[in-house]
Amino acid sequence: MSQKIKIMLGVTGGIAAYKSAEIARLLIKNNFDVKVVMTRTAEDFITPLTFETLTNSKVYQYNTVEKENPMLHIDLARWADIILVAPATAEFLSKILHGRADDMLTTSCLAFDKKIILAPSMNKNMWENKATQENYQSLKKRSIIFFGPEFGTQACGDIGSGRMKEPEDILKDLQNIVKKKPKSFKGKKVLITAGPTVEYIDPVRYLSNRSSGMMGCEIANAFHNQGAEVILVKGPCTYKEQDEVNSIEVKSAKDMLSSVEDNISDCDIFVSVAAVSDFTASKLSKEKIKSDKGLTLELTKNIDILKIISEKYNMFSIGFAAETDELKKNALKKLKDKKISVIAANKVSFTDGIDNENNSITLYWGEGLEKILKLKNKKDLAIEFVEEISNIYN
Ligand SMILES: Cc1cc2nc3c(=O)[nH]c(=O)nc-3n(C[C@H](O)[C@H](O)[C@H](O)COP(=O)(O)O)c2cc1C
Repeated sequence: MSQKIKIMLGVTGGIAAYKSAEIARLLIKNNFDVKVVMTRTAEDFITPLTFETLTNSKVYQYNTVEKENPMLHIDLARWADIILVAPATAEFLSKILHGRADDMLTTSCLAFDKKIILAPSMNKNMWENKATQENYQSLKKRSIIFFGPEFGTQACGDIGSGRMKEPEDILKDLQNIVKKKPKSFKGKKVLITAGPTVEYIDPVRYLSNRSSGMMGCEIANAFHNQGAEVILVKGPCTYKEQDEVNSIEVKSAKDMLSSVEDNISDCDIFVSVAAVSDFTASKLSKEKIKSDKGLTLELTKNIDILKIISEKYNMFSIGFAAETDELKKNALKKLKDKKISVIAANKVSFTDGIDNENNSITLYWGEGLEKILKLKNKKDLAIEFVEEISNIYN
């Protein structure tokens, strides 16, 4: 019989603490070995007895002392394979970032050198607060894994980011981490475009758009992490892909097409995430256009890289459609007109979708098939996107 994976389930004092009971139940049901460690405030929301009953095991409170074992926090840290803290309060994020160790849970975390996973849960303003966001970014840089938070209705009635992931989804994410599932794109070669393109008007000015390149870079990372050989062709953007992803930097749509054509022939999949400028200047001025008068620019429709590639090369191709209106209608038209395998549509506005850390997309393919990937940060969304593409492709 394979050995059970040992989870230290940390419970902190957030309103979602009642859901931790369900997490504990699901973990036990799915063959994990679970020990629960609660903060003092968590006990204001849920009792240790609930967890003791569900896990059939002693619960460790903020001040638990065992006469026979004074180094309990070290023993707990040695025992666990993974620490999962759900819910993780704003206070807890701040505490572990700063190495605080003033109760059983924080002390055990500090003594722990394996995988820590946090499922934050808090009001949207608490989550969006610069302090919490800075703590979150710094913790990610320390390789702490985050499950969520999600966007949705909150206990206080607000709607926004900060909701804890549902227990079933936390279990699924955990299983994905521990299962080491076979990599779904092993042996495949994937070419991805990302970022904006720039179309010069004169030697110093250009037309471009607000694409940050984040979605394309994260999709490149996610394909790489699923075993694919990835080539990323990206327009000028500051967002960086993982070091292991091969990338080629380009400027204009013309450069992008030529770079894609140089590399596409032995690829299995083409993913066009780049926000290729739809227009280009009809005439490129060799001299800087003088600014003493107004300027009327004549623009020409730019090349459609996705259409050219999907028509010329017979491969599985995926396009992205950013739409401000009539998302489904416009996406389905592009799916048909460009003869591509899948279209990933997302709604954009001045505040949503583009140049933003979060996104949601709807995939359309085949005869009327569709799948909504809910709003979440682009890194998690890219992982889910690649998972769905693997279901469609394989
Ligand atoms: C009714 C109530 C609900 C709360 N819910 C949350 C929450 O969902 N998320 C959060 O970060 N803090 C929440 N707090 C604040 C935390 O309880 C507080 O920051 C506490 O110090 C957290 O301690 P701990 O992280 O050690 O458990 C809530 C407080 C109260 C009184």
